[in-house]
Amino acid sequence: MPDATTTIDLSDVDGFWAAPIRERAAGFAALRESPGIPWFEQPLSHVPDPGPGYYALTRYDEVVEASRAPGVFRSGPGATSVADMPPAFLEFFGSMINTDDPRHSRLRRIVSRGFTPRRLAGLQGTLERTASEIVDDLLSAGECEGVEAVSARLPLRTICEMMGVPESHHRFVYDRSNVILGAADPEYVPEGTDIVTALLTAGGELAALMRDLGEARRSEPTDDVTSALVNAEIDGEGLTPDELASFFVLLVVAGNETTRNATSWGLHLLTEHPGQRAAWLADPEGVTPTAIEEIVRWASPVIYMRRTLSEPAVLGGTELPAGAKTALFYWSANRDPEVFDSPETFDVRRSPNPHLGFGGPGPHFCLGAHLARRQLTALFTELLRRAPRVATTGEPRRLRSMFINGITRLPLTADGGKAVLA
Ligand code: HEM
Repeated sequence: MPDATTTIDLSDVDGFWAAPIRERAAGFAALRESPGIPWFEQPLSHVPDPGPGYYALTRYDEVVEASRAPGVFRSGPGATSVADMPPAFLEFFGSMINTDDPRHSRLRRIVSRGFTPRRLAGLQGTLERTASEIVDDLLSAGECEGVEAVSARLPLRTICEMMGVPESHHRFVYDRSNVILGAADPEYVPEGTDIVTALLTAGGELAALMRDLGEARRSEPTDDVTSALVNAEIDGEGLTPDELASFFVLLVVAGNETTRNATSWGLHLLTEHPGQRAAWLADPEGVTPTAIEEIVRWASPVIYMRRTLSEPAVLGGTELPAGAKTALFYWSANRDPEVFDSPETFDVRRSPNPHLGFGGPGPHFCLGAHLARRQLTALFTELLRRAPRVATTGEPRRLRSMFINGITRLPLTADGGKAVLA
């Protein structure tokens, strides 16, 4: 049998990552079964100096071990791309996801003010109202393009409302966030465009919006999160204007695309698995918590995060040199049969489900995990209650990316007929 590490290329964005999900899963299964930790060349990149390739951590235990050792597996100089990014880029997109202690803990302590149980409870009304509007519109349209009409609306509204971005600017924020995460997909950035420039422009525009908003809230605070982050007197420490801008860019990107893609995959999974839909419909309150976790596990909207070694380390018997880049493939860890029974089965009642969709155990664990769960719960509860036969009517169009497991288009109908019910 050929060695999987020589036949599979995780850097082949148009081959490996564009293949059907079943083939992707088989590829990762083969890598997990092959001994050692494979190394891959850099993917083709528009970045001027992407640096050397990376080691791929595909097994659950390896991803957990690396996440638990942030002093060795560092998030600086960049966690969201295996390619080294230009310094100007890190300025906008950096924020705390690309930093280590002590800077990371300072930033995380401050921005956590936006995610307290009280803040999240305060957003509940917005979540339920928006979910209800989305389902109203779905029912009256009958058929629609589901990403824009259903999946994208709730996360965008949540973040903008949290931060106090006026409604007139929500679309502006949405378009820029699409450019940033879909940069390698021609649907968002037309072919021939200089991608680094497009990214910096989009990031710069979001940063400018936030600098203005921060200044306004410094002189006249309201009860939004921006006011809490810029006014040091509230909790003794505040963000500088640049830190606020860069945190907003992170929030817009991390909070929009992730919940959106989990929703789109959830709709697709419900369509493909009528038995699971029936189980969920039979006991919405009991099943929703496990169903939401299962959607996040199965979809793994964030495919990997990068860590760079500050010193040599041994992982699962393989020696990794200082300076090596590693990619922590959550998508693969979440399908590791050592941890998950029948990992390819979508099981809305799966329990336990210790998935790594929100990251591994460590200081960078998703700050928005509770919020994401609330968003997904609000939306799927409303969908199943009022549009129990909502279904996709064709294959999703997938984002061209090895970082985000995204769906760019999803043909959707409010009434998939009897066929979607088991
Ligand atoms: C289903 C939805 C979501 C998924 C799958 C997801 C996944 C992740 C992952 C994998 C990480 C990196 C963890 C690590 O490096 O160890 C992360 C970090 C982060 N996420 Fe989420 N996320 C989701 C929703 C959200 C939402 C709704 C927000 C905010 C509105 C958010 C804000 C953040 C932030 C700020 C970080 C950086 C944390 C840090 O570096 O300390 N996420 N997320």
